[in-house]
Formats: sequence, C-alpha cells, structure tokens
Amino acid sequence: MRIEEARTRHAELVDEIRRHDHAYYVLAQPTISDQQYDRLYRELVDLEKQFPELVTPDSPTQRVGGEPLKEFKSVQHLTPMLSLDNTYSQEEVRSFVSRLQRLLPNETLEWVVEPKVDGVAINLRYEDGMFVCGATRGDGSTGDDITANLKTIRSIPRKLKGRYPKLIEVRGEVYLTKAGFQKLNAERKAAGEEPFANPRNAAAGSLKQLDPRIVARRPLDIVVYGFGAMQDGEGPRSHDQLLDWLKALGFNTPEKTWHCRSADELVRAINELDQLRHSFAYETDGAVIKLNSYEQRERAGFTSKAPRWAIAYKYAAEQAETKLRAITVQVGRTGALTPVAELEPVFLAGSTISRATLHNEDYIRQKDIRIGDTVTIEKAGEVIPAVVDVVLTRRTGAETPFEFPRACPECGSKVARETLGDSGEGAVWRCPNPDCPARIRGRIEHWCSRGAMDIEGGGEVLVRQLVGNGLVRDVAELYSLKVKEVAALERMGEKSAANFINAIPNSKSRDMWRVLYGLGILHVGAGVARALGRSFATLDDVFEAPAERLMEAEDVGEVIARSIVNWRNDPVNRKLVDRLRNAGVNFKSELYRPAAAATGPFAGKTFVLTGTLPSMTREEASARIEAAGGKVSSSVSRKTDFVLAGDEAGSKLEKAQKLGVRIIDEAEFLRMLEG
Ligand code: IVH
Repeated sequence: MRIEEARTRHAELVDEIRRHDHAYYVLAQPTISDQQYDRLYRELVDLEKQFPELVTPDSPTQRVGGEPLKEFKSVQHLTPMLSLDNTYSQEEVRSFVSRLQRLLPNETLEWVVEPKVDGVAINLRYEDGMFVCGATRGDGSTGDDITANLKTIRSIPRKLKGRYPKLIEVRGEVYLTKAGFQKLNAERKAAGEEPFANPRNAAAGSLKQLDPRIVARRPLDIVVYGFGAMQDGEGPRSHDQLLDWLKALGFNTPEKTWHCRSADELVRAINELDQLRHSFAYETDGAVIKLNSYEQRERAGFTSKAPRWAIAYKYAAEQAETKLRAITVQVGRTGALTPVAELEPVFLAGSTISRATLHNEDYIRQKDIRIGDTVTIEKAGEVIPAVVDVVLTRRTGAETPFEFPRACPECGSKVARETLGDSGEGAVWRCPNPDCPARIRGRIEHWCSRGAMDIEGGGEVLVRQLVGNGLVRDVAELYSLKVKEVAALERMGEKSAANFINAIPNSKSRDMWRVLYGLGILHVGAGVARALGRSFATLDDVFEAPAERLMEAEDVGEVIARSIVNWRNDPVNRKLVDRLRNAGVNFKSELYRPAAAATGPFAGKTFVLTGTLPSMTREEASARIEAAGGKVSSSVSRKTDFVLAGDEAGSKLEKAQKLGVRIIDEAEFLRMLEG
C-alpha cells in the first residue's frame, strides 16, 4: 500500500472507531458486533505498524499509553475546583433555599437536582477540541496530571464533537461501576491480592497507578457535570444548557436530572432519586442541588471553599446495629487470615446479615472492637457487609477484647505478619503451611471455580468433604476420583456424585490460560493468565521461560514474572504440573498468536530504549523497530542486541555497559534502518 492510500484508510478507521466508541461507551447503543469492532481495530494497529508516521496522538490505539511513569506531574487548574457544602436533612435543604432567596430577593429561582456520583473528581482540558490534559482535584488549585490514565477511559472523547471553544475545562467524576468493582475484587482475591474496600477507593487507587496499562484493565467510566475555564466561545447560560452541550460534545452526563422550582419540589426530587439510585450502574452517596441560571450563580458567589449556589444532600448510609457474638478467623487459599464477625442476625438493605468482615487485626484494634459489643454494620453499595463502628454507649464492661491468633486456626502453624502493598491499610497474617487443610480446600475450590476450570459441583461443601476424608489433597488428585468414593460421602446422592465425577474429565480440555489461572499463582489473575496464553504456545513454555521472556507478554511486569518463576522453582509445584499433564489436562493455548516470522532489517533483534531521543518519541522508535521486524523489551539482559540511548539515559544504559550490549544513538539507529 502506498502512503497516500494508507493515510486515507487510517483517517477512515480512526473516524469509524471513534464513532463506535461513542455509540458503545457513551450512548450504550453499539452499532456493530465486538468481532467487527476488533477487526477494525486490528486493521488500524497493523496499518500503524506498517506506517508509524501515521500514529497520531488522537488515534484510538494511543489510549493505552506507553511506559509507566515515575511520578505524576502537577498541573494547575485554570479555575479552582471547589467542593460542596453538605446537608443531611430536609430542614437543611429548606434553609439553603431560603438563604439563596434572601441573597437574590424577589427573583424566581430554578434548580437542577442530579445524582452525586461517588467517585473521583477530575478536570479535563481540551484545546482546539483535543483532549490535552486530565488531572485530579488535588488541593483544589493544583492536581496530579493523570492524562495517560484518563486516556484509557473510552467514554472520555479524545476529540470533541460539533462546535467547541478554543479551550475548555470540563469537570466530572470518574467511577468504577458496581459490577466492575465486584469483578475486580473477585479477581484480586483470586490472585491473592487485597480487595478494595469500596468502588470509590478502587477508582482512586486505579487512577493513582503509574502504569496506564494496569489502568486500562480497570472498568472505569466517567460522568461530567460541570465546566471550569473556557476561552473564545459562547458558553451555556444555565446548567440545563451546559448538560445538553456536554452531551453534544460527546460526553456522558448524569442519567437523570430533575428541574425544580421550590423547596418542596427539591425534597420530592431527592426522595425520588433515593428510590432510583440503587438501580444505577455506579454508587451514589447523595444528590447535588444546583442553581440553574449562571447569571444568578455569579451574583450568589462563593465562599472560600464552596459555591453558595449549590449544595450536596447526603443520604444516610445503609446501616444497622446488632450484637457481635463472636469473631472467627478464616484462612484463604493464599494463607491469609481474615477475621469475620459472627452477628446476631439483622435485616439490612434487603437481606438478613449474620456475618460481616472485620478486614484485619489492625482494624479490630483501631476501632477497639470487642466480643459482646453492639456494633454498627454497613452495606456499602451491595458490597459484603462490614463492621464500621462500636456503639460505645451500649458497652457494659462484660465485653472481651479479641486476641488475634498467632497460630493458624486450621493447622496450628505459627502465622507470619505481612505488610500490605498498594491498597493497604493494615497488615495481614498468613499461614505459611502449604499443606494447611484450609489452603488445600481453597486451592481446589479455586481450580473448580467457574472462572478457572469450571467443574460443576466443586464448591465449598463438597470440597470440604473431599479434603476432610483424605480423598483429594491437590488438584491433580481430582482426576483419579471414583464415583463410588464420592457417593460414599455423607449427604451425597449417587446422582450428584456422578454429575461431579462426569464434570471432571470435561475440564481436561479447557484452554491453557484457565489451567494457569486455576493453579492460583500469586498475582496471576484471569487477565494475566489470558495475556500469557496469547504469548505462549503451551503451559510448559510458560514454566520454562526466564523472567525476561515472561515480561514480553502484555501486562506482565517484574513482580508477576518473579512470582511465576518462584512458583515453578518449587519442586512440589513442578511435580504437580507433571501429574496434571499425565492426567491428560490440556496444556496447549488456543489464544496463542505467534508473531508472524519477522522480516526487515531488524528481524530477530531485540532493542531496549532509554532516555529521550532528539527527534522522535519512544513510541515512534518502538513502532519503527517493530515495523522493521525487531522487538522492543523493557529491560536489558544478555539477550538484548541494542540499547537505543538518548539524553538522560539511566540505569538501563549502565546495565548495557556492564553486560557489553551494543549501545547506539538515534543517528546510528536511523542509518541502520535505512541500511
Ligand atoms: S458539582 C463547585 N455535581 O462531589 C461544584 N459534584 O462533595 C463542584 N460530585 O467535588 C461539584 N457528583 O467530586 C457536582 N453531580 C455532581 C457531582 C459532584 C459527584 C462530587 C465532586 C465534588 C464533590 C463535592
């Protein structure tokens, strides 16, 4: 294909994909199937590989940015991002309205009520219609530049639609859907990682990631509801108009708003929203009441931290009080000990609760939670209920403090304390014994779970019996179980035993990534397992690969690679893999896509980039290397053929010198490309 032709096709694809993204992520009305979309997207990726000069910053392929950042830069908002004052009762809402009316006497006041989305406040800056900068609120005047992370959110348009001003700052809330939150936490738990406490923490934690590739995997979304600065353009004159305009520019706006003319109408709207909000995809913690007219807003003005023309109404969290009867400690697959509150059953937000999480030892200590206490439990957005507080006024003195066990309640091994990573408040105790019955049960349940090998019937109850009766000690032993053995278990009918036994051989043909995920290696969640499935032909290849090769798979960084290498270095695990192979479990990956045999001047060569190059970005250089048949790796090893170094090259350059890897500069690189 000639470059002119490629350019035209590129523009067509960019335009088409952008339209589909908007239809899918903003309008929620997809116009083509996922396969059709993937085909278009792949065509674009291939075209850009062939013609790297066509890669424009607004290309949909650039949503998932390149290298992880070292830290976030600070950005100053053009106008401050303020907060809102809170109200908690009808009376407070009424006095807010009267206050405004006194400020603007004899005027008709009109209000808009919209959901208060429980997420992270974000500022998006567009110049000439292009998304150029996105930032957190920070201290209100300066925030963190998280542009690369925000670019991974598909409902944030890279380019505005229709007529737009020269410059505009748009404000909204980035959130994780309730469903996305559940899924993310399930994956984190399955990968042996600490779950997030609620969707807001998960969204905030995701946006704070320095590696946009991790952010891209989190199901984040945005609602916009305001604007900051604007240059050269006629702005809206009311909030109603703003919302219509934002929608026309291509943004997601609040899904329902109410137009009100009196305090009575406001109260009614707030109550209606309270009924509706549970059906929204995102968490809401209140309603926001805003004066509609911008001209009136201007006269109402601001206090130092909040506008006088708007206020938040916060709904009471769904809480209940009950008695804490006992604290038990559960041991998970990874050995983590989780304290669980055993409660006097109480009805809360649609269901009866008798157990709630107490998170970890530090949490119990900080809140001074004692057995026999009356406690407040809360269900934050359909999440597992948690104990949030002690009702101290109900304390009698008969309560007993809880001693966190120093030995595993299942196997008696001495437990070890481990400080948590990125999400972490507190520390977790772990049972170090790999043969702990609780850990064995956890591993087998995980193997049988729907996301992994999908063996029907292999849930908690049956697995407990299988392990308790010594029939199964690891996942390989499932494959030699007999119907008779299972049927002999207590409360186990012939029929369900047969169903379970039949499901086991079916699991042998599952794709390789499920096997890998099912093994429950620390940090290897389903997403990582799938990425490894795309990059490796067989499970044996995965376990034979050195860390550097593992890191060539998408989403696999040093921590994950090290965890896999550690796992397979354990002789017990190696034997387990052999036994699974002998049992006939499939090790081949259906997802595997071998990189087409490379041709070109760099065929078979591996490059590492470091520092700033004089005339091109790293992404451009990478694209050129790949187009010429070479590969780009993120770390220097003996297998590296060239280190392409620019200004301010750091430790990679040092390592290359130490290992004697050839170092080239941009001029030499360009000569090689031509040669
Ligand atoms: S307007 C100057 N509208 O709530 C007024 N804020 O407690 C700026 N929030 O910082 C805010 N949903 O992060 C507005 N529909 C909504 C909102 C909303 C959520 C957040 C926002 C704000 C915080 C104030």
